[in-house]
Amino acid sequence: MENNSSLFRKKTVTQILSDAHQADQASGGLKKILGVRDLVSLGIAAIVGAGIFSTIGLASFNGGPAVSLLFVFTAVACVFTALSYAQFASTVPVSGSAYTYAYVAFGELFAWIIGWALILEYAVSNMVVAISWSRYFVTMLAGFGVVLPGWLTIDPGSAAEAFAKLQTGEVLTTAEQAAALAYQTAPLLGDLRIIFDLPAGLITVLVTALVYIGIKESRTASNIMVVLKIGVVLLVIFAGAFYVKPENWTPFAPNGVGGVLSGVAAVFFAFIGFDSISTTAEECKNPQRDLPRAMIYCLLICTVLYVLITLVLTGMVNYKELNVADPLAFVFERIGLDFMAGVISVSAVIAITSALLVYQLGQPRIWMTMSRDGLLWKKFATIHPKYQTPSFATIITGIVVAVPALFFKMDFFVDLTSVGTFFAFILVCGGVLYLDHTGISAQSKFRVPYVNGKYIIGVFFVAAFAYTLYNGHLLEAVADKPLLVVFWLTWAVLSVLGYRHRFSLLPVMGILTNLYLMTELGASNWLIFVIWLVIGLVIYFAYGYRKSKLA
Ligand code: ALA
Repeated sequence: MENNSSLFRKKTVTQILSDAHQADQASGGLKKILGVRDLVSLGIAAIVGAGIFSTIGLASFNGGPAVSLLFVFTAVACVFTALSYAQFASTVPVSGSAYTYAYVAFGELFAWIIGWALILEYAVSNMVVAISWSRYFVTMLAGFGVVLPGWLTIDPGSAAEAFAKLQTGEVLTTAEQAAALAYQTAPLLGDLRIIFDLPAGLITVLVTALVYIGIKESRTASNIMVVLKIGVVLLVIFAGAFYVKPENWTPFAPNGVGGVLSGVAAVFFAFIGFDSISTTAEECKNPQRDLPRAMIYCLLICTVLYVLITLVLTGMVNYKELNVADPLAFVFERIGLDFMAGVISVSAVIAITSALLVYQLGQPRIWMTMSRDGLLWKKFATIHPKYQTPSFATIITGIVVAVPALFFKMDFFVDLTSVGTFFAFILVCGGVLYLDHTGISAQSKFRVPYVNGKYIIGVFFVAAFAYTLYNGHLLEAVADKPLLVVFWLTWAVLSVLGYRHRFSLLPVMGILTNLYLMTELGASNWLIFVIWLVIGLVIYFAYGYRKSKLA
């Protein structure tokens, strides 16, 4: 342990392992049963959710068929990150994930910041998943002839927006027509129109209740859900392939590179979750060997599925029609195959529920770990005497997710989740450089394959910088996106440090690719993220700094 009053006081690997060992002894320990197959299955349970079922619609609408290529590029950034997660998981095989890793690498302040950012990855992403669930649920009910009033199934913002558009006389899509109708038919409370997404709130409450009483996602249940998820995705791909009209693929990138890149948040969202299997390190038979493999397999499988499904969706209908929250069912409805649309909505409803469950289980456990370290109120570590679950943290998670899911638009949360998760990923990649630098890597049973970056990082920097400057893009690009300055500066600093410390190339590539994608998210998202961080820091200094176990 370092200087106790320092903001950067760290936990050592030995300390964390001995804490975990003690907790293990006290509770009888976790069963070490998971192998590669189980891990891949858990990973897919967490990865495949609202991203592929919903946000892919908006991304395709903005970028056209070329979004399929964005999936490949984003997957590459995720592979670098996955390797870094794997090294940490093999060095500190305990459940806290990025939060624990940051405690080792950068000290308490950063650990807190990561824990705070992980709320975006878990709780806020689950708001998106809940809203996505609601869209498919409504489509499914409609298939059975049950039509809920529009004002009970949408967020007030989207309804008001569609109504405003209607009044300007613009042509509305089917989804927008429904939203405008919801606005017009909503009951009034004084001047206020009562509009909310009831199914999104209800499913969150139900899943939270299950998690509270301790539903154990057994291997079998998870495996069945995953088979169903992959099944429905493959069904869309194979059945849809027959209805692809290749002319829909031209133009391939109708709104240029900018249009494609505007889908970064949505596309990245679809990959989030591969990191979550690192939290099972204590339950793996051979975490050092199996975790890295499982993460890479998950990413490979999902990339292939995502690319194919984007091509099918954008091939079946014109990309301009895809701005809907249930694109997989929508495309079949659109071509008159209502039965298929029905089958897809029913399966999607079940499949998305499992994603909701994974994150609703994860969030309270992260809070519990932080509370045990003294960084959050003790109450967050309360374990229910009968159900043996972190009961208080679970209820708070339920409220935190359910209320916004009732009232807000999905896109906002997609952006916020992505910006927070990129941030966590960058710190985990950076953490590996720290492990190398301090020699802790020698204890890592799995290491990110080492490629000496002494010269490469700098040479590539100079080449890329000169190229962009020479082509006259640099100033234009920076004027367009001032955040690029952060990217270029970081690359320059990494070039110098990399030269001095012979940085490992792959984690550096992880930092740079994630950061580049993060700059695509736009200044307003960064701003909201910064506000989020500031709130987090206020809480840390008001509470965690004094109450920390390390203090
Ligand atoms: N990747 C997860 C999803 O798409 C967050 O739902």
